[in-house]
Amino acid sequence: MANKKVLAVFGSTGHQVRLSFTNLAFHLLRLLKGGAVISHFLGLDSSPYRVRALTRNPSSNAARKLADSGVEVVRADLDDLESLTNALKDAHAVFLVTDFFSCIDAGAQREMAQAKRALKVLSESTSLEHLLHSSLPGVRRVSKGKYNAVIHFDGKAEVVDWLRDTHAELWGKTTILWVGTYMQIWEQFKDVFAPKKTITEDGEEVWKQRMVFYPESKLPLVDVRDVGKVVQAILTSGGEYKGGKTVSLVAPNAVSMKDQLDIWGAQVGKQTVFEHISEEESLQSIESLGFPEFLTKALWEVGLAYRDCEGKLLHQEGVVQASEVSPEDL
Ligand SMILES: NC(=O)c1ccc[n+]([C@@H]2O[C@H](COP(=O)([O-])OP(=O)(O)OC[C@H]3O[C@@H](n4cnc5c(N)ncnc54)[C@H](OP(=O)(O)O)[C@@H]3O)[C@@H](O)[C@H]2O)c1
Repeated sequence: MANKKVLAVFGSTGHQVRLSFTNLAFHLLRLLKGGAVISHFLGLDSSPYRVRALTRNPSSNAARKLADSGVEVVRADLDDLESLTNALKDAHAVFLVTDFFSCIDAGAQREMAQAKRALKVLSESTSLEHLLHSSLPGVRRVSKGKYNAVIHFDGKAEVVDWLRDTHAELWGKTTILWVGTYMQIWEQFKDVFAPKKTITEDGEEVWKQRMVFYPESKLPLVDVRDVGKVVQAILTSGGEYKGGKTVSLVAPNAVSMKDQLDIWGAQVGKQTVFEHISEEESLQSIESLGFPEFLTKALWEVGLAYRDCEGKLLHQEGVVQASEVSPEDL
């Protein structure tokens, strides 16, 4: 174990990373949060890596569960340079994800500063062989300036440009991951995405999804638990995806919005209706959730961008699809 390479993992207590649990309590937690990178590596019969879980708070319940399952847990706060230097020392591979929603600001400046802080530390590392940086496409760029408010995507894309332009050596060790919308999104953002119970005039219970998408619109979705499989496939590919290549994590078979709802309805025995609403109505519905104006605009515009791209927002030119990296896994 001691002579294995170290895989340091940010977001170890969150969706893209946290472990998948084998006992019941862990399963219940997984329903709330999911998990991918650590769960996948813990589940392997043999792995070249020893996992190091990074968290702001090693005493949290989630972090203690990781430690109980044999994972090394180390404090790392993306706002704290010293903690990053300590946590990343001797790491051979790093999975880096920043969380816009933990540090929301009107320009995504804090999330961008966090990413750059970690990347600067990694650029000075003598042990690092491979960085997997979880990011997203710039919506401003893809939409050719039509949508300028999607800061939680544009900020991440800007950091990737900065890395490419300023840190050639680290760029050479880097794979960019674009992670699709989680299939778990109904649980994560219930108010925005999940169907709502309505009662018709005849007293019938109908579960409605009223969205700016068309019934036939497809979203680039991924089961977030698959992130770990793709990370392993990339790490063991012999460097094929290094050098700033982008791999897009999207399930190859997209399902339309209406079909998703119908499948859910059939599974849980509920009558469902999908209703396309206008852009104005969609904006009003997000406004009613009481977020700050910049976030309302960001969430509204990202929906419009996804709709306009007909499910292809994460299928840009030159981007490798995860199904090509890890065909049998998605
Ligand atoms: N929801 C989606 O469909 C989707 C799709 C693609 C990409 N994304 C992006 O993925 C990112 C993560 O979102 P998520 O929903 O997966 O988050 P999440 O499950 O809530 O997890 C957030 C993770 O970030 C860690 N974290 C937060 N602030 C930190 C800091 N200052 N230093 C170190 N670690 C910190 C937290 O760890 P501790 O609390 O243990 O420190 C936690 O493990 C977001 O930026 C989002 O834009 C989301």
